[in-house]
Amino acid sequence: TTTVRVSPAVLGFAAAPKNLNDIVTVPAGYSVTVMTRVGDPIAAGVSAYANNGTDTDFARRIGDHGDALIFFGLDSAGARDDTSSARGLMVQNHENLSDQYLHPGNPSPSPRPQAEAIKEIEAHGVSVTEYRDSGDRTWSYVQDSGFNRRITPNTPMTLKGPAAGSAMMVTAYSPDGTAGRGTINNCANGLTDWATYLTCEENWAGYFGRDASDATARTARELTALARYGVTSTTGNYGWSSVASADTTFTRWNASVIGASASADFRNEPNQYGWVVEIDPYDPASAPRKRTALGRMGHEGAFLRTVEGRKVGVYMGDDARREYLYKYVSNATWDPADADATDRLGVGDKYLDDGALYVARFNADGTGEWLPLTFGQVPNRAASGSFPEYVFADQADILINARLAADAVGATPMDRPEWTAGNPVTGEIYLTLTNNNASNRPLNGTDAANPRHYGDPKLSGSTSFGNPQGHIIRLRETGGDTAATTFAWDIYLFGADSADADSNVNISGLAANNDFSSPDGLWFSRTSNPAGQGKPLLWIQTDDGAMTDRSNCMMLAALPGTVGDGGAVTITNRDSTGATAQQATIAGAPATAASLRRFLVGPVECEITGVDTTPDGRTLFVGIQHPGERGTPTAPSSNWPDSQSGSVAATVRPRSAIVAITKDDGGIIAL
Ligand code: FEO
Ligand code: CA
Ligand code: CA
Ligand code: CA
Repeated sequence: TTTVRVSPAVLGFAAAPKNLNDIVTVPAGYSVTVMTRVGDPIAAGVSAYANNGTDTDFARRIGDHGDALIFFGLDSAGARDDTSSARGLMVQNHENLSDQYLHPGNPSPSPRPQAEAIKEIEAHGVSVTEYRDSGDRTWSYVQDSGFNRRITPNTPMTLKGPAAGSAMMVTAYSPDGTAGRGTINNCANGLTDWATYLTCEENWAGYFGRDASDATARTARELTALARYGVTSTTGNYGWSSVASADTTFTRWNASVIGASASADFRNEPNQYGWVVEIDPYDPASAPRKRTALGRMGHEGAFLRTVEGRKVGVYMGDDARREYLYKYVSNATWDPADADATDRLGVGDKYLDDGALYVARFNADGTGEWLPLTFGQVPNRAASGSFPEYVFADQADILINARLAADAVGATPMDRPEWTAGNPVTGEIYLTLTNNNASNRPLNGTDAANPRHYGDPKLSGSTSFGNPQGHIIRLRETGGDTAATTFAWDIYLFGADSADADSNVNISGLAANNDFSSPDGLWFSRTSNPAGQGKPLLWIQTDDGAMTDRSNCMMLAALPGTVGDGGAVTITNRDSTGATAQQATIAGAPATAASLRRFLVGPVECEITGVDTTPDGRTLFVGIQHPGERGTPTAPSSNWPDSQSGSVAATVRPRSAIVAITKDDGGIIAL
């Protein structure tokens, strides 16, 4: 039997239908304004973007593949104002590239031309851009604002926390291992209560190349760590180290032990990436700080929760198949007076450099534990495959190799843990589990927290079985305490295509107005935003997944209840032979049209990622990432955002961009 949760709250908009159109579709009564797009100039004197591959100077333009974003308010005098809905700083991550659209034609092969590599490097990172409402939510950005800033893979950074100064962090750039250059593959984010921005380095490993000979130059310990983090390419994603130059901004992307002088040694450069990085958006001159106490992994996002008098908690997914959910807990207890400090990065030092890292184990009975990753309490990581036992040297080693430590303590591998979000009323933490496949998690690899294994008839090969539509899990800390070492959990929602008649697949009972696949972005509305009528509104964004034959990626609004309010559901799993094999009984909270509804559908081949509102809830900002990502320079597969306002030439190149969505009657979004 299934207990259907009844919610008194109702979403106040007509669902956006699934579609494959090359525009952003929103409900009737809403309007879309295209804001900053890849290439837009954010400094005085920089030319308008030609969008034909000839543009340069990406260190003064909006980067590519805009991802997570946050709006930081400014008052009319240009000072921080958390309540302002008329003026603010839009801070956005730039995760990766659609490099076929950055150059006149396809990217040149290796050895890469220097000018192409510079453009590609600088198109990564973070942007800070001033946005203004000139009246009645007429939004535009300020090209010459003094706050505007690009942070790129070349921006000087400070390493902080227990791993700063470790011998494992020493590079030719930083002989004492306390400084670094830049940030890359910035995915999701986090917001601190003291008004700084946390950017998260996700798939950084692929940018590095290592010569084939490096395998014989490294210790067994180093090889274990490099393999565990996937620093295994011989060229790196974009081959930047192949540029014919001795400039270390290119050579550092080759992480080989090259036997040359110390001035060229970047063997430890990969250890400088994989961190949560804190940025003060209000101080364009400040050097971002890499917070090593939060551990090194493929960081998706970092949801930070404060409770007065309690320690600060930061919840973090490590997005890869079979990776883990982590929590950082500060040693200092939260003092609300720190929210208004002007030395914002100094407040970050207090709460984010001194604390304990934990990793989650989900038990079958609906309880869970946070396992400490503290030197002296972590056993050696057992030998695995051709790799010998790994003996941790100190806390810096544990933080730099957090995945190895999490393996050693027996954490629960998850179906791609992506964004974390906290319900501001209940304090419960939600986590998207985008998907998994049979090759990474076979039928006998299911567990209570990752319980589903079935086939999607639309997909083929090893990816067709597993958990192709994903799910969302949530947890409640014991006593509501950020520092708790135990928690209760359930599964909030399972992705499914409502056209799939198999009730073992559509466990949450999704219908045409709210079915979705592969949840990724996840964010609760601001507490100052009354949408949700007492229940905070949850936004769910999707990535690619198994429904893109039926609809482009989308964003849904939800009014979730609490852990344990769903009914227990027994599902029968099956493998590729069709044989049913494993049964799992899980807590699944069925969705209803009133509590879950599709709000937006994006253009062709995009992913929806990044969401915030103004504090009044009347403007919603959403990131549209990589439209037309599978097209070519001469035959783009999307023409968005130009296509948003009507038909355009089929050769117009698509651009990642932020959209501002407003209600035509000026009301609060989704209410
Ligand atoms: Fe960058 Fe896991 O999404
Ligand atoms: Ca993501
Ligand atoms: Ca994604
Ligand atoms: Ca994508």
